[in-house]
Amino acid sequence: MSIKPIVAYGDPVLKKKAQPIAQDDPQLKELLTDMWDTMYNAQGVGLAAPQIGRSLRLFVIDATPFAEEEPELDGFKKVFINAEILEEEGKEWLFNEGCLSFPELREDISRKPQIRIRYQDEEFNTHEEQYDGITARIIQHEYDHIDGKLMVDHFSPLKKTLLRKKLQNISKGSVNVSYPMKFPLRGGKR
Ligand code: NI
Repeated sequence: MSIKPIVAYGDPVLKKKAQPIAQDDPQLKELLTDMWDTMYNAQGVGLAAPQIGRSLRLFVIDATPFAEEEPELDGFKKVFINAEILEEEGKEWLFNEGCLSFPELREDISRKPQIRIRYQDEEFNTHEEQYDGITARIIQHEYDHIDGKLMVDHFSPLKKTLLRKKLQNISKGSVNVSYPMKFPLRGGKR
């Protein structure tokens, strides 16, 4: 087991557009183990590599906790390497999102309901698939991370102003969190 500290909002690595992963990357296997361990330890349904400080186009999803609401998500466990969202369609809908880099914050975010995505799995086989509903939503959230986009980037200027103090507390580490994190305005681990 190798649980890594999750980077909190305010760390520049979360704002960077992440780099593609090469097929012969010798560190990929270990990185994937760390990602799963870190995600499950934090009881997350998704985690992107920048959230553990690695600016790489990789995210993992295990959406099983949503299986009660959406039965097709039972056993939905996937690795997305070098993903590219090819299309987003439909009328935007609101869904309450959370993010491991923003403990204690949950906000309604508006996104389109259908996506088409191309990605590679851990054996570097290329897939092109369509998703909708909560599945698409989870993928869109994680995909944002590899493009350096965060929940706050979806907020209106007013919402951002109203949440300013809360966001500062996240960066400072003034939050209750049950998993190890790295806070940019505090430094070190917790
Ligand atoms: Ni997130």
